Amino acid sequence: MSPLLLLGRPVADSLLESLKADIKKLDPKLVVVQVGDDPASESYIRQKLKSCEAVGLRNEHRHLSEKVTLEELMQTIGELNENADVTGFIVQLPLPKALQPHVPEVIRAIDPKKDIDGFGAYNLGKMFLSVEFEHLPPATPSGVIEILKFYKISIEGKHAVVVGRSNIVGKPLAIMLLNRGATVTVCNSKTKNLAEITRQADILCCAVGSPKMITKNMVKQGAVVIDIGVSRVDGKLSGDVDFEAVSEVVSAITPVPGGVGPMTVASLIRNCITAKKRQLSAE
Ligand code: GUN
Repeated sequence: MSPLLLLGRPVADSLLESLKADIKKLDPKLVVVQVGDDPASESYIRQKLKSCEAVGLRNEHRHLSEKVTLEELMQTIGELNENADVTGFIVQLPLPKALQPHVPEVIRAIDPKKDIDGFGAYNLGKMFLSVEFEHLPPATPSGVIEILKFYKISIEGKHAVVVGRSNIVGKPLAIMLLNRGATVTVCNSKTKNLAEITRQADILCCAVGSPKMITKNMVKQGAVVIDIGVSRVDGKLSGDVDFEAVSEVVSAITPVPGGVGPMTVASLIRNCITAKKRQLSAE
């Protein structure tokens, strides 16, 4: 039997629709800071701004030169922190090579109240407490949770295996699954006998960026597979999962593209509204 296809678009559209009334009432503003001209970032930013336009969310694109200094970038961040009209902003990653070692400093400089990527220590730390404190969760893991909820896939009591330990996807996703009662195993590139572990997963989430690394023999019959990895192979997007072969054995699977991707933008927009509400309530 063919598996349930977990498409992100209907989930994103449903979430964005539910946010429209708040956008109209609260009139928040989202700013994207881009440094340099990374082609993948260009495409992600275009999608983010297009979605903002579609739901009537005020937005601004600050495009800085690849040659910008750390001081100049920090100055922009400081100005956005101080600007009362700006609800939330993100600094699109990766930064140009010269600035990449400074990413932790850059993230630390963002006011936690405006950190709608949820990448800073304050917002990440709060997630450790419970679901109730996931106020500004990183957009991609948040999108995964929303997809599972939309398609009525329960998390509690399940064995969830997360492959990938990045600060922006793997680690926060593991915490969000744990907060919802899953038994969580987190694997990484050094994990021994990876297939042995992934085969135990009721819910397998892969966020590595290694095309088709999850093969049919690495998944359990009837498992739910969430593919978060995106790579470009011969000009075509590929996920971490060998979709065709793995589809033969699983009960549900996200495609790439069209799975988690659309949800990340919707989650970011939701964070912008949450940030606005929390800023107003703290006044
Ligand atoms: N680069 C890839 N994904 C993201 C994201 O969610 N936020 C930022 N700031 N940069 C990214």
